[in-house]
Amino acid sequence: MRISLLFVLAAIAMAQRPAWKQEDVAAGRQLYMSSCSGCHGLTGEGGRGPNLMTGRAVSRSTDEVLFQALKFGLPGTDMPPTNLPDEKLWQIMAYVRGLSAPAYEIPVEGDEKAGAALYFGKGGCTRCHAIAGKGGVSGPDLTSIGHQRSLNLIREAVLDPGRRIAPGYQRATLHLKSGQTLEGVLRDFTTYNYTLQDQAGELHFVKAADVTDQRILPGSPMPANYRELLTAAERRDLIKFLSRLSARGAQ
Ligand code: HEC
Ligand code: HEC
Repeated sequence: MRISLLFVLAAIAMAQRPAWKQEDVAAGRQLYMSSCSGCHGLTGEGGRGPNLMTGRAVSRSTDEVLFQALKFGLPGTDMPPTNLPDEKLWQIMAYVRGLSAPAYEIPVEGDEKAGAALYFGKGGCTRCHAIAGKGGVSGPDLTSIGHQRSLNLIREAVLDPGRRIAPGYQRATLHLKSGQTLEGVLRDFTTYNYTLQDQAGELHFVKAADVTDQRILPGSPMPANYRELLTAAERRDLIKFLSRLSARGAQ
């Protein structure tokens, strides 16, 4: 009985779910900070409760299931019910969804056009990155980055590039049995083979059995000073622009 009543209540709330706007995400973030961050971390990285950025539970849950978990808690676990009006719970959900959803799928604040101008101008991003075939190739292709990464990951990639290196862009040195040392970007590696691209762009295919020592070098080749180079408003606009990059969505 109780369960079915909960479903009915949730269904009623569902029917009233408004389309999320940027203000909802911002309000949801505030509410998250006061009601949830103590257990799930300031940026959703987890703690007493699970990580909400990488946890599959959020991305796999329907809106109803997630809404119920927030409203009524998860009985038998430390996840408590949240005593807030439904409207505020929806705002929290807007924020929590955005922690793991592709950036393209959520509302993002900022001026996309101004962001594009920064990307192609002052930011100098085209030197290393391509969008739709135009631009440099020393950094990852960004044609569909809004679909590939969450907003947090995009923001972190731009403002704190050394923190997490995009797959295939880790810098490394390999010492070989022959006495040779190779340095470059580790494009790929398996148990048996390494593919390393040196500074001249040449690819080296090396058997793991021929490697005596390998070192992953810290840091990213991407400039780490965009936080200083760009104003807060410019950073916001640039990230808005990146979040809308999608080969699939309407451009
Ligand atoms: C007292 C600590 C605590 C608080 C406060 C709390 N949670 Fe949780 N939450 C947990 C725990 C523990 C779990 C894991 C439950 C389980 O074992 O499945 C959880 C699970 C979840 C899940 C499911 C995630 C998954 O990967 O299974 C979501 C989503 C979630 N919490 C969101 C929230 C939100 C949003 C808030 C604020 C409204 C909140 N939680 C408040 C402790 C907490
Ligand atoms: C000197 C070359 C260089 C410049 C200039 C540069 N980047 Fe990068 N960028 C890289 C490299 C190399 C990586 C991969 C290593 C890493 O993840 O840090 C990267 C990673 C990224 C990623 C993460 C990609 C992913 O797949 O996760 C984003 C987003 C990004 N850059 C955006 C930008 C933007 C926006 C600008 C301009 C403001 C810029 N970059 C300028 C070289 C550059």
